[in-house]
Amino acid sequence: MTTRSETERRLVPAGLLDRLPRSGIREIAQFAGDRAGLVHLEYGEPSLPTPEPIRRKVAQAVLERRMVYTPVRGPERLRELIAAKVREVNGYPASADEVFVTNGGTGGLFLALAAVLEPGASVLLPDPGWPNPVGMAHVLGARPHFYRLDPENGFLPDPGDWRVPADCRAVVVNSPANPTGSVFPEEVAAAIADLARRRGLWVISDEVYDQIYFDRRPTAMARLYPEGTISVYSFSKTYAMTGWRLGYLVGPAALLERLEKVAESVASSTSMPAQIAAEAALVEASGEVPAMVAAYRSRRDLAVRRAKELGLYRYTPEGAFYLMVDVSRAGASEEVARRLIEEKSVVATPGSAFGPSAAGYLRISLAAAEEDVERGLVAIAELLSEGER
Ligand SMILES: Cc1ncc(COP(=O)(O)O)c(C=O)c1O
Repeated sequence: MTTRSETERRLVPAGLLDRLPRSGIREIAQFAGDRAGLVHLEYGEPSLPTPEPIRRKVAQAVLERRMVYTPVRGPERLRELIAAKVREVNGYPASADEVFVTNGGTGGLFLALAAVLEPGASVLLPDPGWPNPVGMAHVLGARPHFYRLDPENGFLPDPGDWRVPADCRAVVVNSPANPTGSVFPEEVAAAIADLARRRGLWVISDEVYDQIYFDRRPTAMARLYPEGTISVYSFSKTYAMTGWRLGYLVGPAALLERLEKVAESVASSTSMPAQIAAEAALVEASGEVPAMVAAYRSRRDLAVRRAKELGLYRYTPEGAFYLMVDVSRAGASEEVARRLIEEKSVVATPGSAFGPSAAGYLRISLAAAEEDVERGLVAIAELLSEGER
């Protein structure tokens, strides 16, 4: 067997394998390991199952049909159904040739960044933000720069304050946001669109939580800046389909046409069972989405109420299914997250996993069951007050 040190010697020093940061979400999950009796609040994993009509349709299709290669950008019928969803739910015009089916929102984000970033170019990303686009920028040889989401202002950005490098090609926007749950007001979205238009930037709008909102409806960036926006969507969160790995891009037809070459090279296409699941989701299960969102809303309400009672309240998340809890008075977030596991058997993600602006916070997932959310908040409050005695 080849030893670990032999392999290390063969690797390129300071190559991609060294440069790429590790996900802090996976790191804390690894630290937790398989200790018994843990409450898991670290992943954005819905506790609800994929709706039954979707599972049935795929089971039947797998038994009855050939599972074959499909068109690179996904079958025409699925792209038509998606375009109809975008018109109805996201509120802007879209046709099948403006849709590209991808391997989850993750695969969509990577393709979108690959389409607009050349090696050495800069890209603006949110801090705090979901970390994967940082790794994607490194894979593409691009340079990530960050704009701040202000914890004192409900984790909203102020585009008036952004420093945009001269070689910047794109800005990634994510609303409803992970890790904060904030939903950008229309005027903030409009200010981002204005800046992008003036500076000739692409907006890569990560809208994978587009249907999970509790108060104001999220603004689709493509409604404000259609010529320069590539929107990223996913079935993972809306339909509790994280493991199916299906998402899609919506953007200018000419750009998506050219993107076929990239997708062909790295993936050939998405998987056919997942495409069948996506079609079943849109045709047979869209009626179940409001009940799922109502379940997340009730967890959000519970979390906000308990955070207030426990003295942990800072802001109200308006979408997605996360809450950032300020633990700065107990120390650095990695340390607090480790103590929470060891002393309270609760796993939450250190804010540092999402960028320096969140280093004093823990993120808890509100996609977990209500009793777990409740236990998590009580455990954090106990940990903080024990530190003060
Ligand atoms: C903001 C954000 N974008 C994209 C994704 C990727 O989702 P998918 O499972 O569709 O790849 C996630 C997953 O957690 C996310 O939180």
